[in-house]
Formats: sequence, structure tokens, C-alpha cells
Amino acid sequence: MTQTTTHETTKMKERMIGSYKIGETLGEGSFAKVKLGTHEKTGERVALKVLHHHYRITPKDSQFVKHGDVASDLKLQREIIIQMKLNHIHIAKLFEVIQVAGDVTCLIMELVEGKDLISLLDDFPDRALPEKEALRIFRQITSAIHYLHEHGVVHRDIKLENVMLSHDGTCKLIDFGFASHWSMSQALKTPCGSTIYAAPEILLRQAYRGPKTDVWGLGVLLYCMVSGKIPWAGETAREQLYNTVHGVWSEIDGVSDALSDLIHGCLLPDQKSRYGIYDILESEWMRVERRKVGVKRRLSGTIKNIVKRIVA
Ligand SMILES: Nc1ncnc2c1ncn2[C@@H]1O[C@H](COP(=O)(O)OP(=O)(O)O)[C@@H](O)[C@H]1O
Ligand SMILES: [Mg+2]
Repeated sequence: MTQTTTHETTKMKERMIGSYKIGETLGEGSFAKVKLGTHEKTGERVALKVLHHHYRITPKDSQFVKHGDVASDLKLQREIIIQMKLNHIHIAKLFEVIQVAGDVTCLIMELVEGKDLISLLDDFPDRALPEKEALRIFRQITSAIHYLHEHGVVHRDIKLENVMLSHDGTCKLIDFGFASHWSMSQALKTPCGSTIYAAPEILLRQAYRGPKTDVWGLGVLLYCMVSGKIPWAGETAREQLYNTVHGVWSEIDGVSDALSDLIHGCLLPDQKSRYGIYDILESEWMRVERRKVGVKRRLSGTIKNIVKRIVA
């Protein structure tokens, strides 16, 4: 981590963070604003995640960040330590951390030139992706989550806003603000993430291991991608909570049986019965070749047309 200096503070006023010129806002979440950054000398473009937190690093962190003293913000500390260690094609890389004046910390990240999945859905009729496109995206995200789980990390905030799709069609998982280490020997207790994507064990404040909670998030993400809607119906928040905890959701019209089975497996309220990441990777829908998905859709369309004609 680079410490704040008077020079740096002056640079911030000049719309600079470190050696990066601050550009347009790329997005905004619940905790941070993300801006485009351009290196003043090389012209390299990055994403600047600006957090208004107080962060000081511990000696333990020093293998990843330079300088520092005591930890004061565990959440930000975890985000940095975890993301700094990750190296996967479908995870946005964290290059550097700059602590700027007035409790502001900036994460210098790999820029994903494209849009997040919530904005992507706006480009499709009914905000629903065709199955083939959803499969292409979901494969990349599950490969990132598989990598995380294998490396003892859980994301805990899987949602459309936290997946970026670049112009060349590559997906990158972002936002490690709720990420944590997990192990078979120790249960996690902190409730986190967004309510819509939160698994029953989170909503019921039960202990959880982590990976199955991510699988639930993947199930909700997949449901949203192919239906354009959230799975949990209900007039009131209480009704919606009941439906989530009991896994009550409406089937999506026009999707393949293999996709429907996968969503069912991910959205099982009981953690033990719920799919793990390997079950997802081995599921029929994930293994099917792209060609077959197309054929299935065409066939189901044809059958629907035949039925319509017979009924007429
Ligand atoms: N590496 C990146 N490249 C491009 N845009 C990004 C990048 N990281 C985040 N964004 C945009 O900024 C938004 C907020 O970032 P995020 O890390 O999710 O912040 P928060 O922790 O506040 O949710 C994202 O939803 C996305 O639109
Ligand atoms: Mg976010």
C-alpha cells in the first residue's frame, strides 16, 4: 500500500490518484464508487474503486501491501488480502492499493471494458437471456467460484451487479467486499450479501460453511439471467422471506429440463441436500454442448407450434 503524502493529497485535488488520472464513473455499489483511471505516463487504463473507509494494514498483510500499522477495518482488509492473492481469468485482478487522504482507500484494479450483468439484461426482451448465452456466462462464473472454493475462499455476494461482461464476451467476477476464508472445520456466522440472493441459512442467522451459500447465490443469479425476474414472489417482505426460506419459486416457462433441474439443485433450502460446486459443473445443463442447447430450444419451439396447431 502506498501511504498518503502531501503530494498525493494535492494530486487528488488535481483529479489524480497515485499516477492515475481520474476519469468517468464506471459504476457505483453500496460501498464504493468505481472510476476509470488512466496512467499519466503509460496511458494504461484501470478501474479505481474508491472506498471511504479507514484502512490500516497489519504486519501480516505486508506480503501483499507495502508499509502499514494496525488493522482498523476488517471488511476492507479482507477484501484486499483475498483479492490480491487471486489469479484467475474470470476474476478481476487487484494490482495495487493506495491510501489517499481523509480515510479514503483506492483499489487499483483490472478494468473490465463492458457492462455488469444487470445492465446486460436491459438489452434483451423481457430482460431474459437466451439459454445459450446464459450458459456461456454461467460457465465462466462457475469456473471462478470453483477456483475460489478450491483456494479456501467464499465470495458471499454473488449477484448480477458483481459480474462484469467485457466487450469480447469474457466474464469477470468483481467485488470481494464480503469474501471470506472458509474451512470444513469452522463454520461462518456473519450474515452478508443482498437479501434477494441470500440463502435460507443467512436469513435465519444460522451457521454456514460458505460454499453452499455461494451455490444458492449462483442459483438465484441463473434464475434471474434466464427469466429476467427474481425467484421470490410475495406482496410483502415477510411473504418473500417465507418463500425464500422454503424454496418456493415459480418454474420458468420455456427453459430446458436440464436447466430447470440445475436451478432446483442450487435452490434447495437444506444446505446438505443442496448442490455443491462439483454438482453444478457435472450437471447435464453444464455438460451439454452449445450446439445441443440450440437444438433443444428449436425442438421445444417446434413442439409448441405443433401443439398450438393441433389445439387450433
Ligand atoms: N474492475 C471493474 N471494471 C469496470 N467496472 C467495474 C469494475 N469493478 C466494479 N465496476 C463497476 O462498479 C460497480 C460497483 O463496484 P463494486 O466493487 O461492486 O462496489 P461495491 O462494493 O460498492 O458493491 C460494479 O457493479 C460495476 O458496475
Ligand atoms: Mg458490488
